Amino acid sequence: MPSTHLPSVELHLHIEGTLEPELIFELAARNKVTLPYRDIADLKSRYEFTDLQSFLTLYYANMAVLQTAQDFADLTRAYLRRASAAGVRHAEIFLDPQAHTVRGVSLAACVNGVAGALRDSQAQFGLSSALIITFLRDQPAAEALDTLTQLIAMNAPIIGIGLDSAEVGHPPIDFVEVFDLARAHGLKCVAHAGEEGPPEYVWQALQLLQVSRVDHGIRSLEDPLLVDYLVQNAIPLTVCPLSNVRLRVVDTLADHPLQAMLERGLLVTINSDDPAYFGGYLDDTFAAITRTFNLTVDQLAVLARNGVRAAFIDDDRRAELL
Ligand code: ADE
Ligand code: ZN
Repeated sequence: MPSTHLPSVELHLHIEGTLEPELIFELAARNKVTLPYRDIADLKSRYEFTDLQSFLTLYYANMAVLQTAQDFADLTRAYLRRASAAGVRHAEIFLDPQAHTVRGVSLAACVNGVAGALRDSQAQFGLSSALIITFLRDQPAAEALDTLTQLIAMNAPIIGIGLDSAEVGHPPIDFVEVFDLARAHGLKCVAHAGEEGPPEYVWQALQLLQVSRVDHGIRSLEDPLLVDYLVQNAIPLTVCPLSNVRLRVVDTLADHPLQAMLERGLLVTINSDDPAYFGGYLDDTFAAITRTFNLTVDQLAVLARNGVRAAFIDDDRRAELL
């Protein structure tokens, strides 16, 4: 029987958020991109964020080094290697194609680069994986719809869609048509909601986009009726504690409502979001929350099992992971 407290499943991971400073410099040299940083130390000195937008600005700027399918495959393999070392046995990975196509990278290059590396994840790194396309909510919904239409036409190997980027002022309701199209094609639906945005955005994600998981969702705690709904319907929340600290959603890890969420019976899963920027991969995240909250073996087992319950996998794979 597998050890129950292993952080075995990762469900909220932006592949572009695994772009480590060393790889940024390596890809810049390969692609002859001039970086606005003197060296790695200069780049790392900028990893102090005041909110989500201050992070997103750097996150999108650094993507300039990702140009070819090979770059995307190398990035993905580096993540898979690190995730495997962290004990991850199944990962569902987000990719933001619009952040690349806007720079002139083809949709095929970014999607096939990531998907090609994921295809070999079990054989090469011992973990199963899947790809979820995330749309930028601060860009027009028509652009997301166009991107999804192209992905469907090219029969892209994706299991679902999500919604990310700057949340406040960009409510889920704007993306109903995109999510309707995804569901009509059998794709799973998730959305970032309740990270910086209000509980109302979580309601919209659930009721209008019909998501089966909510990414972050920690501001749901402000609405007791919403918490009841999430508990009663066993809707998973992909919580990212280190991200919440680094993006100042909470002041310190000790202030994070993780314990309260567990006590309310929410189906919480633990994830790393953008580990190259937020100070840790999934093993680091589990170590930090275990230390800070004195989590018991039983609580760790619940978190690990929740990840397996919330994953978009078939029953056989679920049984293997449990
Ligand atoms: N894109 C990458 N990380 C994100 C986050 N934490 N919230 C919204 N969009 C993101
Ligand atoms: Zn995220």
